Amino acid sequence: MLKTIQASQIAGSLGAEIRGVSLADELPDDVIAEIRQALLKYQVIFFRDQKLTPEQQIAFGKRFGDLDTHEFVLGMPDHPEIIRVVREADETTLNFGGAWHADVTHQESPAMGSILYAVDVPPYGGDTLFSNQYLAYETLSEGMKRMLDGMTAIHTARGPFAPEGRSKNNWKNMQVVTSEKAYEEMEHPVIRTHPETGRKMLFVNKTFTVRFKDMTEQESAPLLDYLFRHASHERFTCRFRWTPGAVAFWDNRAVLHYALNDYTGYRREMYRVAIAGDRPF
Ligand code: SIN
Repeated sequence: MLKTIQASQIAGSLGAEIRGVSLADELPDDVIAEIRQALLKYQVIFFRDQKLTPEQQIAFGKRFGDLDTHEFVLGMPDHPEIIRVVREADETTLNFGGAWHADVTHQESPAMGSILYAVDVPPYGGDTLFSNQYLAYETLSEGMKRMLDGMTAIHTARGPFAPEGRSKNNWKNMQVVTSEKAYEEMEHPVIRTHPETGRKMLFVNKTFTVRFKDMTEQESAPLLDYLFRHASHERFTCRFRWTPGAVAFWDNRAVLHYALNDYTGYRREMYRVAIAGDRPF
């Protein structure tokens, strides 16, 4: 039960706006515990009208675990834990995060969660969509669940971050460092169990998952394409309209997200910290 904070659900499948808390403050442990409880219940939680310095955003993130630094996107010079997700008004190319994904699933231990703070928002557009991966799993047929339960998928960062990857022509105002390391492959179960709730989730995404273990990409493509489409079906989603100072905190184990690219001509800048996660099982 939430005692100090109030949560209002924003959609049927996931997402809630939280009121009654200033994230810049040094919050008592019981309030942090309520925020964690809300995150587990709603998978993504939103806070409006926050005023956070980089230090305060880092301090808030650290209340939930160690922070993860991105392997291919440099953080701010004085705050390497924060990456600036920025698209300038004159950019017309693909935005960062503009495909359904969970963050950094190419890592052995992908982030547990990410906290995104809106610094500069366009007058319209630039919303972020989220999709509930518990529901994506639970709505599969029993036969499909049985088959996927024993399967392993291969994730790599080569699509966005290899030298010839998407960052070559996109994200010009972000500090992306491409590398051959992006070709390294990581194995994760296709169906993952949430370490805190014990519930099962679908755990593949279009940005990082390239094939099933012991199968070619061509062989994997039909089923992966089906799962990517299923995972982002609109009935599992919510949509967040950003306002200056808004914060989204998502459970990166349980949701996919997608940053919409519909604000060309306007600037959008967000600060993101990620909380270290554990190895999927
Ligand atoms: C991201 O994928 O982390 C960025 C999300 C956003 O900019 O809305």
